[in-house]
Amino acid sequence: MNQQPDYEPGPGTCCCCLVFLAATVGFIYLMVLLSVSKGATYSVTVTGVAGLDPAADLLSASRPTLSPVFNLTVRIDNAREKFSTHCLGSFAAASVTYGDAFLGKGSVPEFCAGKGKVRERGARAWGHGVDLPRFLRDQMAGELAAGEAAVDVEVTVPDQECYHHCFDTVLTCSQAKIGGGPAPCTVHQNVVHHGHDGETAAGSND
Ligand SMILES: *[C@@H]1O[C@H](CO)[C@@H](O)[C@H](O)[C@H]1NC(C)=O
Repeated sequence: MNQQPDYEPGPGTCCCCLVFLAATVGFIYLMVLLSVSKGATYSVTVTGVAGLDPAADLLSASRPTLSPVFNLTVRIDNAREKFSTHCLGSFAAASVTYGDAFLGKGSVPEFCAGKGKVRERGARAWGHGVDLPRFLRDQMAGELAAGEAAVDVEVTVPDQECYHHCFDTVLTCSQAKIGGGPAPCTVHQNVVHHGHDGETAAGSND
């Protein structure tokens, strides 16, 4: 007697198993990627400063105002991001303050870091005829002498697609040491109402 088994796993069933297995493996892979993928982080380094020499500028009675120039490096660290490119949008501006006093500002070029990449661009921020209060001049001169002067840098990226409200992106990079390493930035959105002289995201103390 040549009895056929009632059931025999045919090629269809096997295929089904493989698809299911592949889907499961794919899903687990995606979950792992999602859990290890960290968004971009931003940092700013003050690579050089001119016009803030303690003796010649900060403490000099013949300099009632200052004209500082800051060389900055803005970095997007997207090394641990597995999915998307991160960019600093167009018309970004960096503003440099010291103890809440405005020192300079300048534009930052638009650039991107692809997934897994670290990219940086140089920018220059400057101020002309800046009236820094005496106590801050003294404080900065002391800190520069000790090699530990730090400024706060804010990079504002204006929202390009807004109507009544704009959600500007603001990178706040506190305590960026002059000639020191990169200062990490925190990122937040600033709501700006356009159409009247409401607040602007970039420092308005100039
Ligand atoms: C700033 O950068 C420019 C161009 O790279 C350079 O010529 C200049 O000397 C730098 N200034 C300071 C103070 O580092």
